[in-house]
Amino acid sequence: MPTGLFLTFEGIDGSGKSTQARRLAEGLRALGHDVVLTREPGGSDGAEEIRTLLVSGDPSRWSPETEILLFTAARRDHLEKVIEPALNDGKIVISDRFADSTRVYQGAARGDLVTKVDALHDLMIGREPDMTFLIDMDPSAALARGLARNSGEDRFEDFGLDFQERLHAGFLMLAEAHPDRFHVIDGDQDETTIADQVAALAAARIG
Ligand code: TYD
Repeated sequence: MPTGLFLTFEGIDGSGKSTQARRLAEGLRALGHDVVLTREPGGSDGAEEIRTLLVSGDPSRWSPETEILLFTAARRDHLEKVIEPALNDGKIVISDRFADSTRVYQGAARGDLVTKVDALHDLMIGREPDMTFLIDMDPSAALARGLARNSGEDRFEDFGLDFQERLHAGFLMLAEAHPDRFHVIDGDQDETTIADQVAALAAARIG
């Protein structure tokens, strides 16, 4: 059975990772690769419905425990319906966020939840990306950018700068713990420079 390549982008809100995920997908398609560009929370019909519950409304709408269950439910549907079928067809899957976001966001909300996030991941998801690009960005600059978009999906941005700073530190710690798959990219450079760096790393992996 052919196995594709699973690439993810991670970063705090407003880091520019969605733009970079799109640019990598376009670049790889131009080279003739079969690419599925997707996102979390969401990426499949069922998961997009769960996304609406998660990203809108009052910051205190869900407890961190309930959030973990909702994100994992959405991810399981995304994995079954979109990610695994594409990888089994030998495609390149690029996901704007995946399990590292749950580790960092829900773990940052309450440090003692990290063990539960990991246990649920092992039980229900059990897959890690082949490569993860962490678009690293100063939290105050990223927050200003994220809120400026005024997307109506600002529930997480509404937790404020202190939360964004914890997320920033959390992503860097995760990258340090998994140097085999994480690539930390300085997000404070112009868009094309970042896209070129990402493309070079992906090309080296694809061969
Ligand atoms: P996203 O659509 O990536 O927002 P943005 O483009 O603004 O970065 O994700 C929506 C929000 O959901 C974002 O604030 C991060 C949060 N999130 C979690 O808290 N846990 C998760 O597991 C995922 C995938 C996202």
